[in-house]
Amino acid sequence: MAEIIPLNDAAHQTDNALNKLHQAFKAELAAVEREIDVHMKSAAEMIPQISSHIVGAGGKRLRPLLTLSAARLTGYGGKHHITLAAAVEFMHTATLLHDDVVDGSDMRRGQATARKLWGNPASVLVGDFLLGQAFQMMVAAKNLPALDILSKAAAMIAEGEVMQLVAMNKTQTTEDRYLQIIEAKTAVLFAAATEVGGMISDADTTTTQTLRAYGRNLGLAFQLVDDVLDYGGVSRVLGKNTGEDFAEGKVTLPVILAVHRGAEVDRAFWHDAVTNPKDNADKFDKAVDLLTKTHALEDTRARAAHYGERAKDALGLFEDNEMRALLLGLVDFCIARAY
Ligand code: IPE
Ligand code: IPE
Ligand code: MG
Ligand code: MG
Repeated sequence: MAEIIPLNDAAHQTDNALNKLHQAFKAELAAVEREIDVHMKSAAEMIPQISSHIVGAGGKRLRPLLTLSAARLTGYGGKHHITLAAAVEFMHTATLLHDDVVDGSDMRRGQATARKLWGNPASVLVGDFLLGQAFQMMVAAKNLPALDILSKAAAMIAEGEVMQLVAMNKTQTTEDRYLQIIEAKTAVLFAAATEVGGMISDADTTTTQTLRAYGRNLGLAFQLVDDVLDYGGVSRVLGKNTGEDFAEGKVTLPVILAVHRGAEVDRAFWHDAVTNPKDNADKFDKAVDLLTKTHALEDTRARAAHYGERAKDALGLFEDNEMRALLLGLVDFCIARAY
């Protein structure tokens, strides 16, 4: 496991790859934040209030960093990467507002969720507003192929969340199905964020597809680790409540592996917990115990490491420079991350 870092100190650690990326893009990120601030404005007071609540709480800004990195890697010289990076973070923020309603989550980025403070309807509507603003920004970037990629991603995130809803409380969910879900709900935005950074540079198709492959594989790894952290992470470090997937009866890869590898009696435990999760708070320790015994958490992280290697291999096409090294380091950060 990675070293435990208090959430608020995360951006101040000098030795991790995420922070190195923050340093490398200090000026561009500041411009992205300004672009974000401008687009949070609205005469409907609750909109800037809720938006600044979630945006101001921080977050890793991983997806806009992917756009900025891809643009730099492909030698982009214009300004539209800032606009697209802000649009990407707005899409992400909108999905978080929606996702916390779907999951009934009370904590995000180390503070109470918008839905907890202002209610589900406000959280959904402000998410819609941010998504609308994201599209405005994409149009402002005047790149139709990038708009195509990002709008497809927006639809696919929703599809992923719906697929997950259907898989909820079903122990027979397969690893392949799980991968389809995390591809849609998470990896597609990572892929799109990276791809559009190359697209605005007018990079050739091989290059944009390579960037896409990097983002996609990093996104799969990222969500696999996220699903490990829901059982094996520390809430204070993660900034989210742990144990939520189990409490809801959500079937993630750790559970799939534990079910497949468990003895009959343990499978019965999982079946009961997943299909009828209302008393799962009392069963959490037992669940973690079974996940540990079956090596389900470490093997899920090992699966993540596999996708991480694929992401790194994709970058083999680029010349060995500082930007590429930062993106390689980011893969290791995402695999080892605790937040
Ligand atoms: C959270 O993403 C949603 C997932 C895909 C697991 P992040 O962990 O990137 O969230 P922030 O932006 O850093 O808060
Ligand atoms: C992450 O959803 C993907 C989206 C937000 C679309 P999760 O529900 O798995 O992630 P967290 O744990 O709430 O961040
Ligand atoms: Mg969630
Ligand atoms: Mg969710």
